[in-house]
Amino acid sequence: MLAIIGGSGLSKLASLEPTGRRVVRTPYGEPSTALTMGRVRGRDLMFIARHGYGHTIAPHKINYRANIWALKDQGATEVISVASVGGIRRGFGPGALVVPDQIIDYTCGRSSTFFEGLDGQVTHVDFTEPYSQPLRARILAAAQACGEVLADGGVYAATQGPRLETAAEINRLERDGADLVGMTGMPEAALAREAGLAYAAINVVANHAAGRGDSEHAIVLEAIEAVLEDAMGRVRRIIEALASPSFRS
Ligand code: HPA
Repeated sequence: MLAIIGGSGLSKLASLEPTGRRVVRTPYGEPSTALTMGRVRGRDLMFIARHGYGHTIAPHKINYRANIWALKDQGATEVISVASVGGIRRGFGPGALVVPDQIIDYTCGRSSTFFEGLDGQVTHVDFTEPYSQPLRARILAAAQACGEVLADGGVYAATQGPRLETAAEINRLERDGADLVGMTGMPEAALAREAGLAYAAINVVANHAAGRGDSEHAIVLEAIEAVLEDAMGRVRRIIEALASPSFRS
C-alpha cells in the first residue's frame, strides 16, 4: 500500500476519503500523529503528517523511526515523502516541484538506524541510490499525465535545523553538489531503506536558499505560506493521478 508523509503545507490530503485513524505504538515511541487510512480514486492509501497535525514537531525532534515503523506495521510497501525545501540550483525557484535523485546528509544527533547492533549483528544497507527509481518514474509519469511540471533529479542536502542556513553554508552546499536544502529528508530515507520500503520524494521549493535570488539578505518567511499553498495543490493533483488505475504499482 502507498503511504504519504506530508510535510509543511501538507498536513492533510484533501482528496483522501478517510476510512479510519490508527494510533500505532512502536518500539521506538510515538509517531508524529495517528495514521489516517483512506482512499484516493478508489485506491487504499495511508497518510501521516510529519510535523504532527498542528505542525508542532520541529525537524530535529521528529521521531523518524516511529513514523517509518508505524507505516510498515500498517502495511505500507511504498512511501512518498512530500517536503518543502530551499532552492539552491538556478531554476529551482519558489514554487518549483522536484523529484530528487540523491542525498547528502548534514544532520547530526538524530536516531538514524533500526540496526543499533544491540543483538551483536552489524547490518549495512546499500544506499547508492537513496530513492526508489521505479517509484520516482511513476511519480514523474503521473505528473506528466496530469500536466504538472515536475523536475527530474536533484541533490537534496539534509540540514539539522531548525534554523535556516547562512549564505556561506549554502555556498558550501552548492560546492558539495547540492541543488536543494531541507531539514527532514534524513534519516527518513535511510530508515525507509532499512525497513525495505520503496521511498521517493516530491520536494516543493518554498524559497530561494539563503543568499540566493530574493533571499540575498534574508529569507522572508511570510512569503513562504502562499507559495506552499499553491504548490501543494499541484502536489495533490499529482498524487491523485498516481492513485488512478494506470499508475498503480
Ligand atoms: N533551508 C532548509 N530547509 C528549508 C528551507 C531552507 O531554505 N526552506 C524550506 N525548508
